[in-house]
Amino acid sequence: MKNLKDKVAVITGGNSGIGYATARVLKENRAKVIITGRRKEAIEKAASALNVSGLLADQSNLSDIDVLVTKVKEGFGKVDILLINAGITKFAPIESTTEDMFDEIMNVNFKGAYFTLSKFIPVLNDNASVILLSSTSATISPQNASVYAASKAAINAVMKIAALELASRKIRVNAVSPGPVATEIMNKLGLDDSVEAKIINSIPLSRLGKAKEVADLIAYLSGDDASFITGSNFLIDGGQSV
Ligand SMILES: NC(=O)c1ccc[n+]([C@@H]2O[C@H](COP(=O)([O-])OP(=O)(O)OC[C@H]3O[C@@H](n4cnc5c(N)ncnc54)[C@H](OP(=O)(O)O)[C@@H]3O)[C@@H](O)[C@H]2O)c1
Repeated sequence: MKNLKDKVAVITGGNSGIGYATARVLKENRAKVIITGRRKEAIEKAASALNVSGLLADQSNLSDIDVLVTKVKEGFGKVDILLINAGITKFAPIESTTEDMFDEIMNVNFKGAYFTLSKFIPVLNDNASVILLSSTSATISPQNASVYAASKAAINAVMKIAALELASRKIRVNAVSPGPVATEIMNKLGLDDSVEAKIINSIPLSRLGKAKEVADLIAYLSGDDASFITGSNFLIDGGQSV
């Protein structure tokens, strides 16, 4: 068990997948957890199942982020753990990528993540831990994932600069980059069994990752055991990017 007792943890996009699994692990480690989501019913259902707080916010919408920050501050005070996790994936060749698709991905994965970080900085406690969900896509450059990979590469760049800017307050900022993990994001892509088999074939450990495995890494980075780690990007991908 990590000692996260009474630490205030905000997780964006917490109604499924890695965000949901991390909310469970942080709650088990006695943190006060707030999850966010853009769908009222889904966020209320997840919050109730996890016995954590749920707040409605579309992370791609800057006024929603403002309202979220105010509600968190009023309801919980300052934040110790900020997991910027909300994200979407869509694939298309560069030649056929539309402006709508470009904006949709970038608005959630990069602009939304950027301003979530920016607007939460004033309410972070000194010694807080910020973790951004990136992806091995930024490293291994998968075909047809140009916008998604670029959104995550942008996250990696901002993570390092944030680590420098916030170091004087002893706030640590890191990125976690999963390879393929079995979550809703995969179902949303509508991959058929042959594509899934191909992905598994590209992973030396011959399986998809589990959301809980990523959550355990995030929980480690959240606590004092990781007190000398900042500005780092952690790949968790069963060896896929080797
Ligand atoms: N699973 C993987 O293989 C994998 C690999 C590398 C990186 N990642 C990254 O890990 C993060 C979590 O993904 P996941 O695999 O756990 O997928 P997921 O189960 O689809 O979870 C993503 C969460 O983000 C939420 N979300 C999306 N857009 C949002 C918005 N505009 N405002 C608020 N919430 C929003 C989703 O809500 P809805 O239910 O409303 O869509 C969902 O709760 C993402 O950043 C993703 O890019 C995942």
